[in-house]
Amino acid sequence: MSASSRDLPQMKRIPLSLVVIRPAKLFDLPEIVRIEHRSFREQYPRGLFIMFLENNPDTFLVAEYNGKVVGYVMAYLKPDLEGHVMSIAVDPLYRGNGIGKALMTSVINKLIEKGARYIGLEVRVSNEKAIKLYETLGFRKVKRIIGYYSDGEDAYYMVLPANEWRGGN
Ligand SMILES: CC(C)(COP(=O)(O)OP(=O)(O)OC[C@H]1O[C@@H](n2cnc3c(N)ncnc32)[C@H](O)[C@@H]1OP(=O)(O)O)[C@@H](O)C(=O)NCCC(=O)NCCS
Repeated sequence: MSASSRDLPQMKRIPLSLVVIRPAKLFDLPEIVRIEHRSFREQYPRGLFIMFLENNPDTFLVAEYNGKVVGYVMAYLKPDLEGHVMSIAVDPLYRGNGIGKALMTSVINKLIEKGARYIGLEVRVSNEKAIKLYETLGFRKVKRIIGYYSDGEDAYYMVLPANEWRGGN
């Protein structure tokens, strides 16, 4: 028997004004890992999240709605002053509400505040939604990295120079 539309989880339309972006805390980890599992084919070891949080407490952010974590972004400042976005994901039920864009805007502001001269990230060449989001924010594809992912897929390395950041508008 195939699943009817009644069995499928409903996408939730929510006002962005009720979504709070705040630094991640250790107690958020189970929710973060849950969203990661629903968003990526490959997962980071749990210890990596803990280490990342310890080292980058102000650039590991979550989006909270109604007391529930619905998205996260992890970024850090490299010694060469590249602000690097390591991962971003939004709970599939809450996508398309502007939460991804709000998380990226907050973390870019934070990285630039900390001295980033530009923001860089890698994205799968097939990930059209994410590429569109980054382009909306002003990122440009600067190179294609052949076989970057463990399944052999290429990545685009995308960059946003700090002096071109328009604050997400
Ligand atoms: C990429 C991701 C974080 C976007 O989160 P989101 O909350 O749905 O994104 P937003 O609602 O803020 O959308 C922002 C922009 O992204 C693009 N976008 C989002 N959903 C899209 C869709 N279904 N189709 C095309 N573009 C889309 C649009 O440019 C959109 O801007 P607009 O609404 O002004 O047109 C989310 O899809 C996700 O978690 N994907 C799985 C994990 C992933 O791929 N992460 C990126 C790894 S590099």
